[in-house]
Amino acid sequence: MKYLLSPITIDSTTYPNRLVMAPMTRNRAPEGIPTALMAKYYGQRASAGLIITEGAQISQQAVGYPATPGIYSDAHIAGWQSVTQAVHQKGGHIFCQLWHCGRVSHPDYHEGNLPVAPSAVQPQGQAFTYEGLKDFVTPRALKLEEIPQIIEQYRHAAACAIQAGFDGIEIHAANGYLLDQFLRSGSNNRDDIYGGSIENRARLLQEVCAAVCNEIGAKNVGVRISPVNTFNDMHDANPQSLFNHVANMLSPMGINYLHVVEVDMTGNTDTSVDMQQIHQHFNGHYIANGSYTKESGDNTIAAGDADMVAYGIPYLANPDLVERFQKNSPLNEADQSTFYGGDEHGYTDYPTLKENT
Ligand code: PHB
Repeated sequence: MKYLLSPITIDSTTYPNRLVMAPMTRNRAPEGIPTALMAKYYGQRASAGLIITEGAQISQQAVGYPATPGIYSDAHIAGWQSVTQAVHQKGGHIFCQLWHCGRVSHPDYHEGNLPVAPSAVQPQGQAFTYEGLKDFVTPRALKLEEIPQIIEQYRHAAACAIQAGFDGIEIHAANGYLLDQFLRSGSNNRDDIYGGSIENRARLLQEVCAAVCNEIGAKNVGVRISPVNTFNDMHDANPQSLFNHVANMLSPMGINYLHVVEVDMTGNTDTSVDMQQIHQHFNGHYIANGSYTKESGDNTIAAGDADMVAYGIPYLANPDLVERFQKNSPLNEADQSTFYGGDEHGYTDYPTLKENT
């Protein structure tokens, strides 16, 4: 029988347990450069089977939030090297999440120019800027001839991640950011080969994956999707068919894992998509994410419904989540007021079990 705390071997790598630290934006990288404090934070969580970093923008065009890290310049690489070293020194594994915000960015990040998107469809809601919340704008639709530059940004960022010492990368195709905007019909009304049919809407993700796999090897690549998430004003006419197709499309590429946000981050409960259908269409490893507890994570793995389970907020507040699960110990509560931005408070000062007593 397999459990959350049993090891898993993927290709030649053995992960000591099946807990994944989910990617979480923490806005503590001034000028986009990862800091020593970030190295401490990730190092504290190195007992996870796998850490996936917060989203790291793949270019200046990709930025959409204050003080998020980049992964496209020498300075970014040098900053991330201290993070990967801190995790590896403790025997951990860490993938870098590659992020392009697309339409939910704001002109403030682009010298007054519009953010880019598949189509000029304005999302409802507000962008986080250095001057506070501002209404989302109507983005500029990418021209067909600009698409190769987007693919190149992902390829370059993946190469930078490997240079920074990461064990692999996760392509962020979830939560209403650029690749998800292409995937879903509510944000993509293009009439070229990147819009219209499901195959066309999934084409950019396919081409990005192909370029990145070619650059760093498919076993070092994961993809994150969020079939029912309406966060960032996302909608799709037929999410089951769309994401079954995505899983089918990614299978022959041999990518390491498909990481599925199974919930709607806005709190709606949408049961219109059967995640296990998506799982069945995918022949790699499946990472489940969304409100799992130790017990439900264990049950999901024991049932064969997932290979690993990703924990977000519990990992943020419990650097030693693995040990706490091993001992069935109580968990620290997360403090929402310190999630985004700030210093070590609410970041590297959550106590371990030893420090709790
Ligand atoms: C956020 O900053 O709220 C955020 C960032 C990336 C995600 C989801 C949410 O994938």
